[in-house]
Amino acid sequence: MIELQNVTLRYGEREILNNVSLTIEDNKIKAVLGPSGVGKSTILKLILGLIKPNSGKILIDGVDITHMKESQLYPIRRKMGIVFQGNALFDSMTISENLGFFLRENLKLSENETERKVQEQIVFAGLEGYEDSLPENLSGGMKKRVAIGRALIFNPKMILFDEPTAGLDPVSSKKILNLIGQLRKKNDLGAVMVTHIIDDVFMVADSVAVLYKGQIIFDDDISNLHNSEHPFIRSILSDKILEQ
Ligand SMILES: Nc1ncnc2c1ncn2[C@@H]1O[C@H](COP(=O)(O)OP(=O)(O)O)[C@@H](O)[C@H]1O
Ligand SMILES: [Mg+2]
Repeated sequence: MIELQNVTLRYGEREILNNVSLTIEDNKIKAVLGPSGVGKSTILKLILGLIKPNSGKILIDGVDITHMKESQLYPIRRKMGIVFQGNALFDSMTISENLGFFLRENLKLSENETERKVQEQIVFAGLEGYEDSLPENLSGGMKKRVAIGRALIFNPKMILFDEPTAGLDPVSSKKILNLIGQLRKKNDLGAVMVTHIIDDVFMVADSVAVLYKGQIIFDDDISNLHNSEHPFIRSILSDKILEQ
């Protein structure tokens, strides 16, 4: 379980998050919805301990990571896979090499075992036949699937998605969202999905926190979103446009 407790985060003088509290349960898909620049990626960086809040706490499975050093954070980070918005694949490595990279760097597995795990993700992501291709030769949706496969390689119990459908066409977006839904069913995985696309939320999330002007203005099951009286939520439900 991931918890943000009264988190305030400033970049210089600018306050991005103002007293934000958020709970993300295991085996559930939680969306964080908000306009561009509101601080969604910042929340993921806080959860990974990549940046520190100015005040408040971040707990992972009840452990306070707020003031942890890098070396202490490694085992915590391994509980969570991350899929970056731009995928962060290594351009000069093949798909198989991309999938195996962190395994080879971090675990002293036999080469056979590493290959087995890589092949498992190739199959999961539907990338058979592309093992030796370079990322540049794959479509946007396929690259996203490689990034998801790579995030799953340590068997995390939670996966963090930063705008998983950004830049994808509608068909590929739907495939990726289906894949996210499958992960929970088949692998019993929880997820945090940050997005500015409300359709993503309705397609796959159990609950949604709406971030607006530094604060969480709604945090509940998606079925209750329609009952919200908040003008910003009313406006996104009617025109679905989240740009500021
Ligand atoms: N390292 C940084 N230093 C200063 N400002 C930053 C930094 N990272 C992000 N910002 C600013 O903080 C705000 C929130 O960023 P971000 O979390 O990336 O938003 P989102 O992911 O919701 O689009 C943006 O206005 C962005 O320009
Ligand atoms: Mg972002």
